[in-house]
Amino acid sequence: GRGGDLAGRHVVVSAGGTREAIDPVRFIGNRSSGLQGYALARTAVARGAEVTLVSANVALPDPAGAKMVRVESATQLREAVLAAAEHADAVVMAAAVADFRPVRQSGTKIKKSAAEPDPIHLTKNPDILAELGETRRAGGGTYPRVIVGFAAETDDVLANGRAKLERKGCDLLVVNQVGENLAFGTPDNAAVVLTAEGESVEIPRGPKEDLADVVWNLVVRRLP
Ligand code: C5P
Repeated sequence: GRGGDLAGRHVVVSAGGTREAIDPVRFIGNRSSGLQGYALARTAVARGAEVTLVSANVALPDPAGAKMVRVESATQLREAVLAAAEHADAVVMAAAVADFRPVRQSGTKIKKSAAEPDPIHLTKNPDILAELGETRRAGGGTYPRVIVGFAAETDDVLANGRAKLERKGCDLLVVNQVGENLAFGTPDNAAVVLTAEGESVEIPRGPKEDLADVVWNLVVRRLP
């Protein structure tokens, strides 16, 4: 292992992408593969952590030694993460959470008809990452000890990332540059990790496991 520097720690990782049901057979989803979140879970197990992996619609083998919680929608992911986060040392939100969900789900499969289809009305999902920070502030600032967000940005990566870190009140924000065959569904990732103190740590393009290890290094530094 890597010295077991997460031994005795409980960490929560969310991974994958949520699905928001339209009817019993259709959903609004995204292209997240879960690779980065699963790499985070595997490396945390290897470093000695007790790991809860909240997994949304991922087609990858379960990481050995992680406690799996399977969810589908943002609502379910929120419940699972908030419950697991209560006494967690760290929560890493690597999942791609849908920003919106259909206002209502049809209980039966929507039929094709001669008329124009009905529009699908959307409503906002809660921001789970922001809620973790708010809950921590309300509870006196202790748990979870470290809150980590991910952000995929296409332009003004650093400025947008910095604003997002502040808006969401997280301790670390891993900012991915998307596009150019990076990030989604690929084994490699390149990123900058922004810290609440204003540092930025560049992670060169490489395996998602390497990025995961850098994230855990930065988490370990923040743990008492
Ligand atoms: O705002 P944006 O979607 O770019 O933020 C991404 C980060 O926020 C990720 O860590 C993601 O898991 C988290 N998030 C969340 N709840 C949402 C949307 C995003 O926790 N509804």
